Amino acid sequence: MKDNIILIGFMGAGKTSVGQELSSRYGKMLVDTDCLIEEKAGMSISRIFADKGEAYFRQLETGVLTDLLERAGSTVISVGGGLPMREENRAILRELGEVIYLQVKPETVLERLKGDTTRPLLQGDHVEQKVKDLMDLRGPVYEEAAHRIVRVDKRSLKEIAEEIYGSGGQE
Ligand code: S3P
Repeated sequence: MKDNIILIGFMGAGKTSVGQELSSRYGKMLVDTDCLIEEKAGMSISRIFADKGEAYFRQLETGVLTDLLERAGSTVISVGGGLPMREENRAILRELGEVIYLQVKPETVLERLKGDTTRPLLQGDHVEQKVKDLMDLRGPVYEEAAHRIVRVDKRSLKEIAEEIYGSGGQE
């Protein structure tokens, strides 16, 4: 197993923000699978979903994740909310390092993503129901994929970062 820290969790859990906090606080390089995909495809996630469809996006996710196995470790890796849903991806995640599930409540997600236009799966009507249904489906899978669970509701980035590194993370 490599020595990366991998952040998984639902959209709006703060994977990118927590990743940035860990990166600046502990001097780790930060990699974000959504950014890698946008660079590789030369278009935004929304455009990929609209033009090529979700299945194509999921292929790109597995591709960039596999590429990360070739990189040196000691990196913080933030992955898209749907990425751990493929079993194949979960195996790669655990090979990459310590998988940390940032657990968030639906109300926090709804508050944070109010007005967001960048998540194709949460557009249109009945967003509350969409969040609930997806969370019910994904929660147990995130738990299965993770080595550790860190709750994020009503907590500062500092607190979350310190919990991650203060209890067994590699400094
Ligand atoms: C998705 C989450 C998004 C992005 C895409 C699909 C998902 O990433 O990968 O919109 O299926 O949950 P974030 O979790 O960073 O928002």
